[in-house]
Amino acid sequence: MKASFILLIVFACILLNGYGGRGIKPPGTNVGIKTKTIAANLDVPWEIAWGPDNCIWFTAQGGTVSKVNPETGEKQLLLRIAGTFRNRSTGLLGMTIHPDRKLPYVFLDYTYKEGKKVFLRLVRYKYTDDSLIHPLVLLNDIPATTGHAGSRLVIAPDGKLMLTVGDATNGNSAQDTNALTGKILRLNIDGSIPVDNPFRGSPVWSTGHRNPQGLAFTGPGTLFSSEHGDAIGDELNLIKRGGNYGWPHVEGFCDTEKEQLFCKTHEVTAPVKAWTPVIAPAGITYCGANCAIKEWRNAILLVTLKTQSLRVLKLNDAGTEVIAEQVYLDHEFGRLRGVCVSPAGAVYVSTSNRDWNPGEGYPKQGDDRIIKILPGDSSSSGLVQQKQAKPALAEGAVVYNNYCASCHKNNGEGLAGVFPPLRGTQGVLGDKTRLIKIILKGLSGPVTIKGRKYDQQMPAFDFLSDREIALVATYVRTHFGNSVENITQVHVAKVRGAGKK
Ligand code: HEC
Repeated sequence: MKASFILLIVFACILLNGYGGRGIKPPGTNVGIKTKTIAANLDVPWEIAWGPDNCIWFTAQGGTVSKVNPETGEKQLLLRIAGTFRNRSTGLLGMTIHPDRKLPYVFLDYTYKEGKKVFLRLVRYKYTDDSLIHPLVLLNDIPATTGHAGSRLVIAPDGKLMLTVGDATNGNSAQDTNALTGKILRLNIDGSIPVDNPFRGSPVWSTGHRNPQGLAFTGPGTLFSSEHGDAIGDELNLIKRGGNYGWPHVEGFCDTEKEQLFCKTHEVTAPVKAWTPVIAPAGITYCGANCAIKEWRNAILLVTLKTQSLRVLKLNDAGTEVIAEQVYLDHEFGRLRGVCVSPAGAVYVSTSNRDWNPGEGYPKQGDDRIIKILPGDSSSSGLVQQKQAKPALAEGAVVYNNYCASCHKNNGEGLAGVFPPLRGTQGVLGDKTRLIKIILKGLSGPVTIKGRKYDQQMPAFDFLSDREIALVATYVRTHFGNSVENITQVHVAKVRGAGKK
């Protein structure tokens, strides 16, 4: 009995390791990689792009464009923009370099302030060997706030310029074809509007976006965009001319009653993939037939903030569907914001640990970084740290980590002035019905918690089951130094039922 059990284990190990050969692993399997820091001590390299001089060009959120030689690490400042307004997730954000050397242009977009109002601007610069000159404003005065600014830029295979713009926390504007917020835009490179755009005389290419922070064409010329959802439904979308992606009425797939109602009367394009709990997807790029890591060929590479990872989304042969997802660099370098691939197929990512919402323990010394990812043998190189198996978490902690920790943090301390702490606060320790209501319906400021004013928005979590809400409410009431009575599933059901009447 014992011997046959051991045999079984040995056999299973042989199967899993691909006995005797180094055959291509199935698409769901991670391969060995190693990493090398190319540049360190940066301040949120929001976009990274391969330049015409074989350097990596990068924007820093504070308002500079620089380049770094990936072989020598030598850095050079190309441009400092006066008057960028950086606050929370805004500042100097997107950048794309025209792939045709006969058109030596760089496109940048950034937020600026006029009086009390914040706007987004798109500018074209001409590049020389050592600077960016002749700014030409292509778009101006797009409403912005301190978040949801989108801002990924790309040149399409047909030579048009594409820009993602977030909803600037005005969800309804995403459905308004007259507004430029909550959209993906398309322009000629001189700022004029292409005659074949779907809405005559308008740069709008697609509508219904919340905060699309990734944009990339695949080899065959299909356009993909990644998008931050609210409490649920982060998305990867295949962008079609004139497509409506549903926000603020649809998050992720059209699956709730309310969403289905909207989808009956509007043609809404479903995501190629959606994530709940959310991962906070940022930059994307396409790794094609020459991808240096051969198992990543024909995949979208997606970097994430909340889950601090690089995700390899393998595409089908037609390049229209995601057939497998692998997670790399899981919590190794913190939040990841940008990703690019060199013409030779080398992959680079940039961290975002000096941004407004750093993970616990970040920024670390040397942050932020641009990192090269190379093929490697994780079993022998030792460069890929093998993660210690994590102890299984109690159910309440799992719900908390999935849905609450990105704002209130794992230790419940929150982020000063932005996300309130959950230790010893009235909302957590006080009336149980009120706490259940906060979780079900969310909360919008201004509110005062422990003498400090908060004026952000907490999303509604009514999509969680009664049991999950009871678990997470009990968790916050019994952790972070709190110790008060549990909340039951029956109580949650009652509060939810009363709210429906
Ligand atoms: C996207 C960020 C975000 C997420 C995710 C989030 N919250 Fe909040 N939460 C907030 C903000 C912001 C406030 C304060 C409201 C304001 O600024 O207007 C708040 C307030 C609260 C309060 C009120 C505290 C008090 O004493 O008044 C409780 C309780 C709370 N959150 C619990 C939770 C729980 C439990 C979860 C997970 C199910 C969660 N939150 C997820 C952002 C978030």
